[in-house]
Amino acid sequence: RQNSNIRIVEVGPRDGLQNEPVNVPSDIKIQFINKLSETGLKTIEVTSFVSAKWVPQMGDNTKVYSGITKKDYISYPVLVPNVKGMEEALKVGVKEVAVFASASEGFSRKNTNCSTQEGINRIIELMKIAKDHNIKIRGYISCVVGCPYDGIINTASVAGVAEALLSNGCYEVSLGDTIGVGTRKTIENLLKDLLKITTADKLAMHCHDTYGQALVNICTALEHGITVVDSSVSGLGGCPYARGATGNVATEDLVYMLHGMGMETGVDLKKLIETGRFISDFLKKDSASRVNKTLYSK
Ligand code: HMG
Ligand code: MG
Repeated sequence: RQNSNIRIVEVGPRDGLQNEPVNVPSDIKIQFINKLSETGLKTIEVTSFVSAKWVPQMGDNTKVYSGITKKDYISYPVLVPNVKGMEEALKVGVKEVAVFASASEGFSRKNTNCSTQEGINRIIELMKIAKDHNIKIRGYISCVVGCPYDGIINTASVAGVAEALLSNGCYEVSLGDTIGVGTRKTIENLLKDLLKITTADKLAMHCHDTYGQALVNICTALEHGITVVDSSVSGLGGCPYARGATGNVATEDLVYMLHGMGMETGVDLKKLIETGRFISDFLKKDSASRVNKTLYSK
């Protein structure tokens, strides 16, 4: 069953920028997010409250979150790894947070300096605080198909993390193919197993496009009833702790595909393309979005 209304979670300002070696000034990030807010997107992940020693690019989280013009119909989640991050996020009045855990031990260690179970325990602690403050909590699971350190990941590991996140208060979990190795077959197998323990309305897809499989994998997810998809404008992105991880699927390409399939996203493709160009021009990069490259006219 395919639903025709798709919610896109734009992760460009967080996942997209976190891996950029060049420091992006806060006012550029703010302009970028404000432009995204004008495109019709309903969810924009704006920054992360992780340790600035680990991810310096996100060190201006407070300034960015406080500086953006917020629209009441848009949710602006921030990524948080622990109680400290949660407390910092509370100070600026966030209304939604995203927590993250890994289906693989190797990536968990590299990304958060702890085992998967320890990471889940940390998250449970911060989720208690979030719930006390009526803050919505979204969950991510990394390495749902493969891990740069541990290789192939079995679906039971993903299901275990999904159960932990959902039962402790995440309203949905986003399935991160962190290094983009998934194919139609592996995603199908994963979803079949996950749909034994939860329902499609609790799942989202988060595909990095390293192997060019993201749109196919997203279509596979749509066929399984999933209606929430993460993407990053101009295909920015990558994780500093996942060797070889390239950008997320480009939002422009995703929107073009969904609209072509007769689905509604509420997003204005032209404005999205202009926003993608704004940030790739600043980064002095070619847009990784094929749609952007084709349709943008100077
Ligand atoms: P640690 O070094 O084990 O933590 O890092 P610690 O508790 O020992 O603290 C070390 C220092 O960091 C201390 O400072 C803390 O105060 C500080 P010091 O005493 O040395 O001056 N600290 C913090 N500062 C600010 N905010 C905080 C915070 N926490 C501690 N929240 C930790 C553990 C989890 C903090 C670290 O490993 C970390 O920040 N990791 C985050 C890495 C990251 O952001 N990765 C990218 C995001 S995940 C991703 O991209 C995947 C995703 O897109 C889905 C997918 O694609 O798969 C979501
Ligand atoms: Mg990611």
